[in-house]
Amino acid sequence: MRQAKLDQTKAPIYEALERFRQARIVPFDVPGHKHGRGNPELAAFLGQQCVGVDVNSMKPLDNLCHPVSVIREAEELAADAFGAAQAFLMVGGTTSAVQSMVLTATKRGQEIILPRNVHRSVINALVLNGAIPVYVNPEVDKRLGISLGMKREQVAKAIREHPNAVAVLVNNPTYYGICSDLKAIVDMAHQAGMLCLADEAHGTHFYFGINFPLSAMAAGADMAAVLTSADASSPFTEGRSSLRSRIWRNMQEMRSTPSAIIMPSAGSW
Ligand SMILES: Cc1ncc(COP(=O)(O)O)c(C=O)c1O
Repeated sequence: MRQAKLDQTKAPIYEALERFRQARIVPFDVPGHKHGRGNPELAAFLGQQCVGVDVNSMKPLDNLCHPVSVIREAEELAADAFGAAQAFLMVGGTTSAVQSMVLTATKRGQEIILPRNVHRSVINALVLNGAIPVYVNPEVDKRLGISLGMKREQVAKAIREHPNAVAVLVNNPTYYGICSDLKAIVDMAHQAGMLCLADEAHGTHFYFGINFPLSAMAAGADMAAVLTSADASSPFTEGRSSLRSRIWRNMQEMRSTPSAIIMPSAGSW
């Protein structure tokens, strides 16, 4: 398991929210319930602890659309924890992380190699930007009734037949826990001058345990979408800093100003 370099006991977003709670700040912006006072039913349902921090982006809590303080710090901690050059916290589910990654790697008319059992977030990103999928058909395990991963030979064939493709996307693992040989696929993609992206919606634990399959960052993938919490938060990591300006432009289309309730789980893994 990777040794983190930064102090991973820090939780900057959570700590900022605790300070915010103690400061008893009265918000004059959205949402209108004002710490639950204006909506007692909601306060009773969710609890005062929860509605008390259901507030919009404000200076002490930083702003996801342009992080400069506690969110930025949490992103640096995430990059360190995942062994990435950079990490970006997202709040539109792993969907938004996957889509930022695909929109960064591809443009209209460009080909991307991906397994046919890819998540619909990938397909929808291609609908948005007009990039062209080159599908690899994974085999099906008839006994279990599930589709498997992409085989090395299948990816090699797709790369040979589509030398102008710009990226290969891999599920690491699939929804059912099937991993492809990620390291071999990363190497094949790079040899062909393509990026390698990983959908790790179900692979976050690969970064934090022993005897797990290889994580995308450890395998040398260029970008990965990982999931931290089922509530819609998801960092998106990058293995080399040369993609920063492209990522920034595309990711901004997927980012919003979320309730502060969501942010601590985005920054906890
Ligand atoms: C492989 C894979 N990628 C991406 C996603 C998208 O995650 P979310 O629903 O959090 O946006 C899912 C959701 O099930 C998934 O299974």
